[in-house]
Amino acid sequence: MRAVLSLAVVAAASLLVAGSAGAALGTPRSPLAVRGSHLYGQYCLGCHRANAAGGPDAPSLQGVGALAADFYLRTGYMPLRHLGEQPRRQPLILGDRQIRALVAYIASFGGPPVPQPEPWLGDVSKGQALFAEHCAGCHQVAAQGGYVTGALPPPLDEATPQQVAEAVRIGPYVMPRFSQHAISDRQLDAIVRYVESAQHPENPGGWGIGFVGPVPEGLVTWFIAMPLLIGLCLVIGTRFRT
Ligand code: HEC
Ligand code: HEC
Repeated sequence: MRAVLSLAVVAAASLLVAGSAGAALGTPRSPLAVRGSHLYGQYCLGCHRANAAGGPDAPSLQGVGALAADFYLRTGYMPLRHLGEQPRRQPLILGDRQIRALVAYIASFGGPPVPQPEPWLGDVSKGQALFAEHCAGCHQVAAQGGYVTGALPPPLDEATPQQVAEAVRIGPYVMPRFSQHAISDRQLDAIVRYVESAQHPENPGGWGIGFVGPVPEGLVTWFIAMPLLIGLCLVIGTRFRT
């Protein structure tokens, strides 16, 4: 019985090895992934090397999946401009179709898919508490970015819900990776919802004139409220005179 079992294990293992070797050697890929492989040659090969195997300058991308490819490309973190610098949010040099092709190519080496957060299922105040517990130490409570040694945790005002979920599951650069065990998908929804709410502070009330500050807001009071009051005084005054 044991022999049969170990035979089965060996067979399964060799299948797995054959499978991954096949992928690395370029088993048939979708047309999208093939287009991605050309873009890869143009923008990424110099650092990440052939078959995304990695090299002295950059890590292997085999197994990082659509998850990391989508995050690093849609934030403009990649292609990295200079070796040795922290990846930062940059204006995109790749279009949406190029990004989808590159993501398909990198995903063809295996790895996790892009997460699909559902922030509407999350609770803002729970999200705020979780953010304070897990994220604020680096990103600060109002989600405005901060400072840790050797790296700048960026402000989160430009991160889309998708990118927040991706960052939490990837742990880019010095940021820790949070497993489902540390932060469940439901908790992640709440965090995403909180980050969204911090990006759009609620209207404090009153009459929005673009939140330009107290002086112009005061001027509006003077120019509109004062004439009204003076008008009222005049009306009352005339009434008393008659
Ligand atoms: C100048 C060198 C350079 C170029 C060009 C470059 N990268 Fe990178 N890449 C790096 C380095 C260095 C890291 C590690 C950064 C880090 O620790 O966050 C990295 C990390 C990544 C990661 C995250 C890997 C992980 O373990 O999660 C992805 C995905 C990625 N690169 C994709 C790309 C793609 C796609 C391109 C081409 C469009 C590209 N890179 C071009 C240097 C480069
Ligand atoms: C140890 C410090 C640290 C902790 C804790 C941390 N982060 Fe980060 N985070 C970073 C750093 C540094 C980066 C920049 C990564 C890079 O440059 O590749 C980052 C990047 C991000 C980004 C991408 C932002 C952008 O626009 O570039 C998001 C979103 C994010 N973090 C969310 C979170 C959330 C949500 C949590 C809590 C669950 C968290 N982080 C916890 C340090 C941290």
